[in-house]
Amino acid sequence: MRKLLPLLSNNHAGGRSALTCRYRCGDACFHEVPNTSDNEYAGDVIAKAYSRRSMMRAAAVVTVAGTVGTSVALSQSGGTANAVEGAAAAAGSEGGQAARGLRFTSVAPNTADQVTIPEGYAQNVVIKWGDPILRGAPGFNPDKQTAAAQAGQFGYNNDFLSLLPLGGNYERQQLMVANHEYTDEVLMFKGYDAANPTREQVEIAWAAHGLSVVVVQEDHRSGKLTAVSRHQLNRRLHTTSEFRMAGPAAGSDLLKTSVDPTGTKVLGTLNNCAGGTTPWGTTLHGEENFNQYFANGGSVTEPVQAARLKRYGITGAASERKWERFDKRFDVAQEPNEANRFGYVVELDPYDPNSVPRKRTALGRFKHEAAQPRLTEDGRPVVYMGDDERFDYFYKFVSSKQMKKGNSRAAKEHNLTLLDEGTLYVAKLTGDSPAAEIDGTGKYPSDGQFDGTGVWIPLATGNVSHVEGFTAEEVYIFTRQAADKVGATKMDRPEDVEPSPRTGRVYVALTNNTDRGKPGKAEGATEANPRNLNKHGQILELAESFDDPAGDAFAWRLFLVAGDPNDPATYFAGFPKDKVSPISCPDNVAFDPHGNLWISTDGAQLGSHDGLFGVATAGERRGELKQFLTVPKGAETCGPIIQDKRVLVAVQHPGEIDGASVEKPASVWPDGPGKMVRPAVVSVWRKDGRNIGV
Ligand code: FEO
Ligand code: CA
Ligand code: CA
Repeated sequence: MRKLLPLLSNNHAGGRSALTCRYRCGDACFHEVPNTSDNEYAGDVIAKAYSRRSMMRAAAVVTVAGTVGTSVALSQSGGTANAVEGAAAAAGSEGGQAARGLRFTSVAPNTADQVTIPEGYAQNVVIKWGDPILRGAPGFNPDKQTAAAQAGQFGYNNDFLSLLPLGGNYERQQLMVANHEYTDEVLMFKGYDAANPTREQVEIAWAAHGLSVVVVQEDHRSGKLTAVSRHQLNRRLHTTSEFRMAGPAAGSDLLKTSVDPTGTKVLGTLNNCAGGTTPWGTTLHGEENFNQYFANGGSVTEPVQAARLKRYGITGAASERKWERFDKRFDVAQEPNEANRFGYVVELDPYDPNSVPRKRTALGRFKHEAAQPRLTEDGRPVVYMGDDERFDYFYKFVSSKQMKKGNSRAAKEHNLTLLDEGTLYVAKLTGDSPAAEIDGTGKYPSDGQFDGTGVWIPLATGNVSHVEGFTAEEVYIFTRQAADKVGATKMDRPEDVEPSPRTGRVYVALTNNTDRGKPGKAEGATEANPRNLNKHGQILELAESFDDPAGDAFAWRLFLVAGDPNDPATYFAGFPKDKVSPISCPDNVAFDPHGNLWISTDGAQLGSHDGLFGVATAGERRGELKQFLTVPKGAETCGPIIQDKRVLVAVQHPGEIDGASVEKPASVWPDGPGKMVRPAVVSVWRKDGRNIGV
């Protein structure tokens, strides 16, 4: 029987250590919520006028659930009423056992300074911060670290991971792409003086951000992976690498700087959090808390620019890392448009080591957590995206172009334009229960579901704006404000989003929102965000018409309301709560080959370290949540990938505990006492050689 840890209170805003808040998000939770719009009022007129037809269609989609075989609409019961769920039930579950893919002994909540995995499984560290990956790069030596060395080594704080096939002569090799979200200077440099960083330290941090491409070698008997250093496809992209602005806003006056009068060439990608892998073989990388790198936003007085900076949280004086002292582009008082060139989804072709990655302006500018595409029946990509901030929004982009199949040069070149043309939408969700029944405690309304319908409100298509008072360029560059204007729904930190490859349903991790319903301050509970002072978060399940995910209507319901299962406000898709693992702060999501959803957490508030969980989304075990692993002290679990033979996770910011430093580490992972704590990628497999969880 699983042992529950008592509910512990952690009074730190946002649920993380102060060190995490400082370096990861620029203390986002201590600042005023950037969304001060009263968009329910301002947008209602537009949204209502636009969406009457859409809402009727959404209602129709909901009504047909259970009667139309191809519909992925949500049934009104929490169970398995519709045809898709029934079929998956037959395939996925056998009498009394967990769903196929989730048959392992759940790991109990714990605070061990290690990666704890189920009995019968083994693990290895695939690659660590500082491991050399490019030719000529030296081995990791923290006492002799230089920017040049770091630029050839695996970066810091690995977040999103993608594994792509290599095929051909490389059958047992895969191409791994990793995001390096941010740097923890106090855990990287001995005697670090935050008020006076040296140029060398700053340049090392520049080189430790960004992306890595590393070939990994499979072991022929297990799920073990090892990095192939100095492979010709290995690559590092960081803060001074060249990127291009692409799509409808590229070349805009709003993107021009003194160094780049074309508004198309930008150095670097910053704060890459989660991402996605496209069906055409590229990777997507979300630039998230980019605001924290820019100084002196607070000194800007011109009202339009000041409001734009404020909406993105660029409000202070000196930045945390003081980069503005070494490159004036990080000072918005001196270079006002540089910050407009960050906050995008970056697309990388990892198969071409000479490709210049593109920032896709058509997907909008906000604190992009992730971007996971799927295809419409006629082959157009639809990309779902969350803006990870309290009270910010959930978006989708629908391309107007069809993907071309095959590996020809023409197909490849065409597919690299798919994310430059299409329509950007933002979501408005409406609950179907009376507002009075959503009391902020998480108590279920009388219809037994937190559910409803929604519409996708178009913001811009190519060079045409759909938002009054905004040009198309302004929609793409100041997307948050455009979305305020049309009355988008304020969500509880929309993070990673993943469409199920089996059912087409879309799962949105809403991590938490401790400001919701705060007396006198912020918007209170709504049916999609039903708990005030929401510490543990929820996962929303959304269905669009299976043959038309490009449509403008959807149905939704909460799939999981996270927390201690003993807390009556929690919900696990109707599965008995005495048979699930406790979970808090869902962040990254991924699907396994069986159609189960895997969820990693960030900032768990139940006294256990963060971890990785799997849950069935269909069949009789729908909602049975099982914990697969926990990560070391201070770490967050990121980048999960579940293949037949292995589970891959990025262990981000281990040892990131208040008061910790190189001299006083809070964690000794992964190399043990006396060695520097290092973010790293871990592979887990079954000792008996069989597939994961079967
Ligand atoms: Fe980088 Fe929203 O987590
Ligand atoms: Ca309801
Ligand atoms: Ca995240």
